[in-house]
Amino acid sequence: MIFYFSGTGNSAAVAQITAKELGDTAIDIIGKQAEDYDLSQEDYLGFVFPVYAWAAPEVMLRFAEGIGHTDAYVFAIATFSNVAGMAVEQFSEIVPLKSGFGIVMPDNYPVTDHIIDTKESSMRKLGEAKVRLAEVIARIRNRDEVFDVKRGENARENTYVKAPVFNSEWRKTKPYHVSDACVGCGLCEKKCPAGAVRMQEGKPVWIKEDCYLCMACLNFCPAEAIDYGIHSSGRWRYTFKGFSEENYF
Ligand SMILES: Cc1cc2nc3c(=O)[nH]c(=O)nc-3n(C[C@H](O)[C@H](O)[C@H](O)COP(=O)(O)O)c2cc1C
Repeated sequence: MIFYFSGTGNSAAVAQITAKELGDTAIDIIGKQAEDYDLSQEDYLGFVFPVYAWAAPEVMLRFAEGIGHTDAYVFAIATFSNVAGMAVEQFSEIVPLKSGFGIVMPDNYPVTDHIIDTKESSMRKLGEAKVRLAEVIARIRNRDEVFDVKRGENARENTYVKAPVFNSEWRKTKPYHVSDACVGCGLCEKKCPAGAVRMQEGKPVWIKEDCYLCMACLNFCPAEAIDYGIHSSGRWRYTFKGFSEENYF
């Protein structure tokens, strides 16, 4: 069984392809409780998630706390745009992993003052990610016992000191705003895994103070009408549509 969380589709795609290749099932954790699954007969137990501020999303960590005993081969795959810190090692403190892999994929967080990805770099990353995913699946099949994730500098401090600040202070919905370009389609509400967006009089309203900050509302908006703070305006929006460039243009 492979459990995943995904805001904009990278981790969902990785989980679904991995499950298909292993003859397994991929399950979106939103609205689910780990305690409801009997994992005693599983060959594989996998967790796939995006890296948020050098850590696994808090929603995934809380879900993992409910995982019971299993004799399965347990692995995690983290998708991220640059470096993962010790996200996978930290996750392993909750569910002991046999292996952890990182896959670099396009960035979905166009809200800081520095640009990580453009259309061009995203397309390049997708090409490389497809090859990397095939390699990761082969190593899972082989039951490798290894942690192979690009941690970056100051990994320990980033994961253990900065990520808690992200969770307590950054995951605010207040900076979200919507322009007149909004067409009232409601996709932002449908795609929000936190139930934080409601359409009111044809426009999105963020009804919770905090959310996962997964950026689904902003990136899926077909009119690019949703922004977060001051830096996202006009920047490349990204949701996973497949590994080949032709899916995007
Ligand atoms: C709030 C937030 C924080 C992020 N932090 C990191 C990070 O610390 N390191 C990194 O390389 N990518 C980071 N990213 C990029 C995502 O991990 C990456 O785009 C991921 O593949 C998105 O997966 P998804 O499409 O399944 O949601 C961040 C994205 C978001 C939305």
